[in-house]
Amino acid sequence: MTDKAILHVGAVALVTGASAGIGRAVAVALSARGARVICAARRRDRLEALVGELPGPALALELDIADGEAVDGLVARLPEDWRRIDILINNAGHDLGGRQPYHQRAAADVAAVIQTNVTGMMRTTLAILPAMRARGRGHIVTIGSVNGVEWVANHSVYVGSKFAVHGFTNSLRQELQGTGVRLTEVMPGLVRSEFAAARWGGDEARAAEFYGRFDSALSPEDVADAVLYALDTPPHVNICDLVLRPA
Ligand SMILES: NC(=O)c1ccc[n+]([C@@H]2O[C@H](COP(=O)([O-])OP(=O)(O)OC[C@H]3O[C@@H](n4cnc5c(N)ncnc54)[C@H](OP(=O)(O)O)[C@@H]3O)[C@@H](O)[C@H]2O)c1
Repeated sequence: MTDKAILHVGAVALVTGASAGIGRAVAVALSARGARVICAARRRDRLEALVGELPGPALALELDIADGEAVDGLVARLPEDWRRIDILINNAGHDLGGRQPYHQRAAADVAAVIQTNVTGMMRTTLAILPAMRARGRGHIVTIGSVNGVEWVANHSVYVGSKFAVHGFTNSLRQELQGTGVRLTEVMPGLVRSEFAAARWGGDEARAAEFYGRFDSALSPEDVADAVLYALDTPPHVNICDLVLRPA
């Protein structure tokens, strides 16, 4: 055991979905604080560019969290001195197809949202948690959503996925009580990121029109600030849920 803060110079952090938006902002913030950051996502070119920009040691990890075998074996594929992960940021997620009545949805989109937002997040946690528990130390921050506690029409798949994140996170947190592993869920409202474009196959014009309908939005850096706030609390404090909305 050590009484070092979980976010210390040299701490190893794995960030899923680090190639864009919130995950990228969290990777930048962690690196600025001296963490060694494993930047995971599907787009390797983006990850390599990010690793080149970060001020500290970082690693690009091409990973599709919907690919169960790749997730299960992720720690074994890391160089040996990167395997002791102190901090896991479960951030990767998407909303393919966007808001539309459920009966009109493509079955493949439904499956892909659940495979990433729910199964991928749970399986990534399963790949990392046993070693954290064995060491009696670690902090997992999962990016949920306000849609994990409130629903809207025509958004059933994403809402369902984030309710699952919220239920899983709360149940697991109770189970981790007293183990030295902390679990925080950060639940943002609207964030201006690549999320909307990703909904519609990269359609930037449609994404700009969508964000234009709202008076304000959070930035990925706002969410990264909340993540760091949770990580910076002393070991006897567990920030359970952090809900952020645009003012
Ligand atoms: N934007 C919002 O309004 C909002 C609000 C509340 C919560 N959130 C949540 O915040 C998280 C991040 O979203 P964001 O706004 O930052 O969106 P974003 O800009 O589109 O970034 C999403 C990230 O997830 C990665 N990703 C998607 N599917 C993946 C997969 N199967 N395996 C690995 N990586 C994957 C993407 O990278 P690759 O494409 O390179 O794999 C990308 O890096 C998500 O969980 C989202 O549900 C977003």
